[in-house]
Amino acid sequence: MSVITVKTAPIANQKPGTSGLRKKTRVFQEPGYLENFIQAIWTGIGGTKGKTFVLGGDGRFFNTEAIQIVLRMAAASGAARVIVGQNGLLSTPAASHLIRLHGADGGLVLSASHNPGGPDGDFGVKYNIANGGPAPEGVTAAIHAATEEINVYRILETSDVDLSLCGIAQLGRTEIAIVDPVADYAALMEGIFDFSAIAALFSSGFRIRFDAMHAITGPYAKLILENRLGASKGSVVNAVPLPDFGQGHPDPNPIWAKALVNEMMRPDGPDFGAASDGDGDRNMIMGRGIYVTPSDSLAAMAANAALVPAYANGLAGVARSMPTSLALDRVADKLGIECYETPTGWKYFGNLLDAGRATLCGEESAGTGSDHIREKDGLWAVLFWLNILAARKCSVSELMTDHWQTYGRNYYSRHDYEGIDSGIANDLMQGLREKLSALPDSIVAGLRIIAADEFAYDDPIDGSHSEGQGIRIHFHGGARLVFRLSGTGTVGATLRVYLETVDAQNIHRNPQDALIPLIQAADQLAMIAERTGRKRPTVIT
Ligand code: G6P
Ligand code: ZN
Repeated sequence: MSVITVKTAPIANQKPGTSGLRKKTRVFQEPGYLENFIQAIWTGIGGTKGKTFVLGGDGRFFNTEAIQIVLRMAAASGAARVIVGQNGLLSTPAASHLIRLHGADGGLVLSASHNPGGPDGDFGVKYNIANGGPAPEGVTAAIHAATEEINVYRILETSDVDLSLCGIAQLGRTEIAIVDPVADYAALMEGIFDFSAIAALFSSGFRIRFDAMHAITGPYAKLILENRLGASKGSVVNAVPLPDFGQGHPDPNPIWAKALVNEMMRPDGPDFGAASDGDGDRNMIMGRGIYVTPSDSLAAMAANAALVPAYANGLAGVARSMPTSLALDRVADKLGIECYETPTGWKYFGNLLDAGRATLCGEESAGTGSDHIREKDGLWAVLFWLNILAARKCSVSELMTDHWQTYGRNYYSRHDYEGIDSGIANDLMQGLREKLSALPDSIVAGLRIIAADEFAYDDPIDGSHSEGQGIRIHFHGGARLVFRLSGTGTVGATLRVYLETVDAQNIHRNPQDALIPLIQAADQLAMIAERTGRKRPTVIT
């Protein structure tokens, strides 16, 4: 068993995006591609000597091979200990928890989140820091800089570590602790929620359908929902993680979780429906006959948080990403707590959570979480909802009607234009940028603009400044439009248009109808059809 030093050269575009480095699987499989990036992580974090890391992946195609490469490179670079999920598996929230539980120096999650997997799908690597959260911009920039200067990587020449059984193995001088991926996470959840109230709900006949989408949450949901809480067997569907997610797209939204939506729309459907994504950090919430948007879910969770044991003493504050609807702000107003607005990406919540300024956070992109870890957490959100429903003894649709009656309804939708030419997408954003200062007081599609800007964020804790985080247009009456380019795609560019309007009286309209003037305003302002040739969005959520 010896350390070999392999000569290499920088590979272009190894720049981490919103959530780690994400590329086509075949790109990651090219000789040296993964190795270069891992070595750059070691350099970017100031070395690995004597450090402890957590390691796991969502089980997608190439996970098994990649885990072994990371282990051999950690050992070759002098890491003291790597805590790895059995069979190389860990959900993103479970990895975040393990980093905190063991006081590890950091962790690596191998996942491209909700992007499809398989030889023709995507693969990814995310690095998390010692607080359990995604690496902040300073760290990702250092990693990126290292990818541009790399000339060698170090790897141990040895056979694979057997990860099929929990226990301790040795790789050179590095200890490899193989742990049950689910146990510690399940214990964490048990400490947050009222498990006996949720169990009583299930035993009263309440029916749930959890769609694990053949991704990582299958084993977590089976254990917690069916075995511990007593949901009837078979409540968790698509529970076996598959390397290609059963050829599916493991993204919990009404498009990709259509089968669940169909089931929930049946008059005799289950009481509660939920789904999670590839690596288990996203969630989708439904009741019988109702889809709850991520923004509404976040607001309802904040409004009812005191019903959950871990949050019974109230929330220190809440936070949402900028494009997430302002429904949360209304709840924060009423609770008399601060509501922070951050750029898109979970990493921006880390400082607020660490400093105790925010307890609950969420994003329109189906992510909700709290200070229990430093990642968003799909199954936690599901348990949160179940806990609320168990306490309030009402249905999801009753709960949302009550919420909208109290706070008004922020009708919300996101229109995505996927796979457009990057040049065209950048020109479209630049065109908007150039006319921002002329927009206030003008009328578009019958709506009067009151303010328009490009969002920038000054972190209140460490003072870091982030620019170019999306274009915001506010209208008279509380409506809002946001334009942003996705930071997670792997092909071309994706334009995201976030639409929102507020109505305190008519709370049961179809969101797409309520948003018609905004949709027209978006097209007129950004000239979407003219510039992209697209008459309608690829995906509407
Ligand atoms: C990942 C991050 C989220 C973020 C989302 C945005 O899922 O973990 O925090 O909201 O990407 O993706 P986008 O494609 O809009 O940049
Ligand atoms: Zn994810």
